[in-house]
Amino acid sequence: MVATGALFLLLLASFQLISSSFSDQRTYIVHIDKAKTESERWHEQIIDSISEPSYSGTGAAKTQSADSPRPEILYVYESALSGFSVKLSEEQLESLNKVDGFLSATDDELLSLHTTHSPGFLGLNSGEGLWSASNLASDVIIGILDTGVWPEHVSFRDAGMPPVPPRWKGSCESGTNFSAASCNRKLIGARYYLKGYEMIAGKVNESVEFRSPRDRQGHGSHTASTAAGRPVEKASLFGFAKGSAVGMRYTSRLAIYKVCWQFGCASSDILAAMDQAVADGVDVLSLSLGGSSKPFYADNVAIASFGATQKGVFVSCSAGNSGPSSSTVSNAAPWIMTVAASYTDRSFPTKVKLGNGLVFEGASLYSGRATRQLPIVYNTSAGGRAKGVGYCLTGSLDPSLVKGKIVACERGMNSRTAKGEQVKLAGGEGMLLLNSDREKEELFADAHVLPATSLGATAADAVRKYANSSANPTVSISFQGTVYGSPAPAMAAFSSRGPSIVGPDVIKPDVTAPGVNVLAAWPPVVGPSLLKSDHRSVVFNIISGTSMSCPHVSGIAALLRSARGNWSVAAIKSALMTTAYTIDSKRAPITDFGSSSGLADPFTYGSGHVDPGRASDPGLIYDISTDDYLKYLCSLNYTTSQLAIFVGKRSHQTCPANKADAQSGDLNYPSFAVLFNRNARRRPAFTYERTVTNVGTAAGTYRVQVVEPKGVSVTVQPRTLVFKMLGEKLSYKVMFAALKKPSRATTGSTFGSISWSSGKYSVRSPIAVTWG
Ligand SMILES: *[C@@H]1O[C@H](CO)[C@@H](O)[C@H](O)[C@H]1NC(C)=O
Ligand SMILES: *[C@@H]1O[C@H](CO)[C@@H](O)[C@H](O)[C@H]1NC(C)=O
Ligand SMILES: *[C@@H]1O[C@H](CO)[C@@H](O)[C@H](O)[C@H]1NC(C)=O
Ligand SMILES: *[C@@H]1O[C@H](CO)[C@@H](O)[C@H](O)[C@H]1NC(C)=O
Ligand SMILES: *[C@@H]1O[C@H](CO)[C@@H](O)[C@H](O)[C@H]1NC(C)=O
Ligand SMILES: *[C@@H]1O[C@H](CO)[C@@H](O)[C@H](O)[C@H]1NC(C)=O
Repeated sequence: MVATGALFLLLLASFQLISSSFSDQRTYIVHIDKAKTESERWHEQIIDSISEPSYSGTGAAKTQSADSPRPEILYVYESALSGFSVKLSEEQLESLNKVDGFLSATDDELLSLHTTHSPGFLGLNSGEGLWSASNLASDVIIGILDTGVWPEHVSFRDAGMPPVPPRWKGSCESGTNFSAASCNRKLIGARYYLKGYEMIAGKVNESVEFRSPRDRQGHGSHTASTAAGRPVEKASLFGFAKGSAVGMRYTSRLAIYKVCWQFGCASSDILAAMDQAVADGVDVLSLSLGGSSKPFYADNVAIASFGATQKGVFVSCSAGNSGPSSSTVSNAAPWIMTVAASYTDRSFPTKVKLGNGLVFEGASLYSGRATRQLPIVYNTSAGGRAKGVGYCLTGSLDPSLVKGKIVACERGMNSRTAKGEQVKLAGGEGMLLLNSDREKEELFADAHVLPATSLGATAADAVRKYANSSANPTVSISFQGTVYGSPAPAMAAFSSRGPSIVGPDVIKPDVTAPGVNVLAAWPPVVGPSLLKSDHRSVVFNIISGTSMSCPHVSGIAALLRSARGNWSVAAIKSALMTTAYTIDSKRAPITDFGSSSGLADPFTYGSGHVDPGRASDPGLIYDISTDDYLKYLCSLNYTTSQLAIFVGKRSHQTCPANKADAQSGDLNYPSFAVLFNRNARRRPAFTYERTVTNVGTAAGTYRVQVVEPKGVSVTVQPRTLVFKMLGEKLSYKVMFAALKKPSRATTGSTFGSISWSSGKYSVRSPIAVTWG
């Protein structure tokens, strides 16, 4: 029987191999000139033109067309971009390249997810300012691209909400355990996309996923409720973080677009969702996902965001969780709001007492009692020579060595909670999760399945040394609940950093927002540790990532959208950036868990931490038009075809012939990134121009205050801007000049700022000068 089974599996495997080599088609995302898409059947006509068998050729041509079936279109894109995704063989791709109106084709790929107390921390108070009844009354629709939603969750109830506005064109798609009745006046749309995903990852496994907008991972319900969940009193996870759980713009409607599945989110599905969301009528799009960074003309999320922005949709994306290494930021196009992640003042401390008297603080969301003082085992003493035992990988721990003890496990290789699961399975009583030097003092609080705590690098070192040097090392862990008052914000080490590789002439990320230990909605069928074996059912969970900070900013953008109805997307972004702050609750510069100096800089937090209240009244804004963005793309030396991908058509207007007229630093961005060539023969200097629009008080006099980056002089002309009316635009020039001729050894970045201050307002832009 066993042999037969094995043979069957082998046969199955080789059959799949044969079938995939037989059909050499792959999925591509194809951008087409809009001018060629006027007839209703344009996409079919293009497919017809590339799939006609060529009988004039040799026999080989015939065989080819027999081998490659007619290309199958997955999605047609018409709102946020112009084109389609399609399955093609290499020959078909070659023919497509010659079709009139073809602009580009990129491989489909899987992107990944960038895996509440925060309103109070952000200064949002009931009945006041942005949270006043009048501002919360208007209809703002937030679209969430994620893992779906748990529609019955208390955060998504619609009691008291007015009817859905007639402008809404979305729909509530049914599927497994999800029907049109799953939507309501809060959750006004729900769709799911998996054609691209199934091409890459194979069929969705229905025993672990719902083939519908229903969330089986938790991530999507969490992000949706962070942006717009209704207030829920006495929310908590096992009593941790108890309080009112409420989304940033809690009266907004939600439209859910499920694009992420077990192994990731396919570009072609994401584009289909963005395209549909724009057509459906969302005001804000929130994407807590991303891929590797590539030029904007090949970055499909950047392209679709450009189209969405042109239609007035605010697009907010997570910066990524690849910090603290520099140049790891993703979603860095200048028209996207790129959000970093930081701590709030809330923590979940533990106390770890070693047998040698040393005491350390860790963090955990374990909900039970303290352990007794118990023996520690680590690496070889926990599993002999088993592979990966230092990391507590599956099956590596030896129950005879671990039973009744506390196991120290290194971070990495498997999930933090999976290590605890392994220790528990082997009969261990507790776990210490050890940071490496790379992770420094960053502490994650996780809902472990046994008494467990994370420990920073210093404590971890002490534990390793003690466990290795003492004959009978012991430890105990106790849990201190929820504590407020840590210096905050502080930047998370995991938060991805600039400078952006593809657009170093713009500071990225743009801002930071709460992204560590965030409490929000959770599906009752997913354990809080995300382990399959964890059958604890919770209504709220606490998780971390730029995935969590992004929907905070999406919700705040929705607040500004209603408070300032006629502002452009760029104006909202500018307001959030120029009012962001860089000083923490202890009146000290914001710190960074990932930096060796301990201090954060604009490549970590951009302009700083968002301040919704101040953003609603910024005084001045830096506006940016579509033409401005195109000029910026010209400055990156994009070809006419590459530019056409963004606007959907080859325009008659091409880039200025004189390159000096398209200087990337002239984009009217609310921050300044200056690139100096360290091999320059002369002292490098650049002059950039900016234009500000008065949205504060009718009459206002603004004076400039400059903090010069080290080694750079900054000259602003004029130094005073006198406004006489609202809506008035005034320009200024700023010259950045190196103080000395650079040497080859000059590297790194230095930072400063330019602020325009009237009595009432201060409009601040960070400066980052990078020697490259
Ligand atoms: C999904 O629907 C099926 C059939 O109605 C039901 O048996 C199952 O419990 C549902 N699952 C969930 C998680 O709601
Ligand atoms: C689907 O998931 C279940 C549960 O993890 C697993 O046992 C099963 O093998 C999976 N099926 C396929 C086809 O991968
Ligand atoms: C565990 O011990 C082995 C043998 O001494 C060593 O090679 C390995 O690097 C250790 N692993 C860790 C994570 O310290
Ligand atoms: C433990 O100590 C031994 C010798 O005392 C040393 O060789 C080894 O590297 C140490 N291991 C760790 C993980 O510190
Ligand atoms: C925007 O609205 C405000 C007040 O609602 C008004 O004062 C201002 O003139 C408007 N601006 C534009 C450009 O329409
Ligand atoms: C664009 O081309 C100009 C002139 O060839 C060159 O000086 C500049 O560095 C190029 N810019 C980029 C971003 O490649």
